[in-house]
Amino acid sequence: READKRTKLLEINKEAAKYFYKLLRSPRGEKAYAYFRKRELSDETMRKFGLGYSDQYSDDLYRYLRHVGYDDALLKESGLVSIDEVRGGHDKFWNRAMFPIMDVHNRVIGFGGRVMGEGEPKYLNSPETKIFDKSRNLYGLNIARTTRKPQLLLCEGYMDVIALHQAGFDNAVASLGTSLTSGHASLLKRYTKEVYLTYDSDGAGVKAALRAIPILKEVGIITKVINMQPYKDPDEFIKALGAEEYQKRIDQAENSFLFEIRMLEQNYDMNDPESKTAFYNETARRLLAFPEELERNNYIQAVADKYRIGFEDLRKLVNNLAMAGS
Ligand code: GTP
Ligand code: MN
Ligand code: MN
Ligand code: MN
Ligand code: MN
Repeated sequence: READKRTKLLEINKEAAKYFYKLLRSPRGEKAYAYFRKRELSDETMRKFGLGYSDQYSDDLYRYLRHVGYDDALLKESGLVSIDEVRGGHDKFWNRAMFPIMDVHNRVIGFGGRVMGEGEPKYLNSPETKIFDKSRNLYGLNIARTTRKPQLLLCEGYMDVIALHQAGFDNAVASLGTSLTSGHASLLKRYTKEVYLTYDSDGAGVKAALRAIPILKEVGIITKVINMQPYKDPDEFIKALGAEEYQKRIDQAENSFLFEIRMLEQNYDMNDPESKTAFYNETARRLLAFPEELERNNYIQAVADKYRIGFEDLRKLVNNLAMAGS
């Protein structure tokens, strides 16, 4: 029974994806098509990601799916419609640019829908259902899983993934409007040893990167951080500077530990001896987390060089902490 239901829910999502896809390419979808073009997506890219449009009539999909033969209970469970006792069925997504979300087997499991222009919420996502687990799926992984590139690029948004793929970076993925979970990390680990974070350059993006780094480390993934400055996200970076410049940023990606320390430093006043000492102490505490002596010394060296402290001084600080702790 459960398996039957999952199959049915997958069918419904597939029907909906086809429906949105066709609508985008019909006269009724002109506005959405123009929106995607304005965001510089080619026809090929739109096709590759199955992009679509949900109609301005708010029960259009509902009536279509009923017509195809699905009952209210099942449609409700798909998360694509809500059933109101009085007004009947209503679509969750209407008048939005639609991004079908696929699992690694290319099955449609949910949708993201973007308002075209300004408006709240900017993105609407399918709710979690029997087939849609946001913490165990990643947008774009169905394509990125076969990349020949040595790492996966992890970004924040659907548009970032799409812009990167269009620019030739077929290794880009994103979480589904949620922060990275250990479920995502395990999933990533199946496909790669290295993840490069390419989150937004704003405060939220930095915070998200600082949260993601230990989660990825936990499963043994080597993580680096790509700097998007002075642009806001990979989509805007690529639009402004192009793929070659982005590749340079990949090549210059920062070691995740050194990124963490650089962000830590921003909380301290390096002109104040007391604050500076506190920074070195906290840094030493973090260096202590490297169990291997050679690796630890390499990090001590890197930090010492960068923050102009003597290697031996910093090493002593770390060793003293180690003694105090044992
Ligand atoms: P664009 O403005 O289309 O370029 O989107 P963006 O990806 O740059 O948006 P942003 O950096 O604000 O958000 C990153 C991701 O978070 C999006 O791709 C969505 O998955 C998710 N997100 C953004 N806004 C919302 C929202 O209002 N509601 C929900 N549920 N998710 C959102
Ligand atoms: Mn936002
Ligand atoms: Mn953002
Ligand atoms: Mn963004
Ligand atoms: Mn963006």
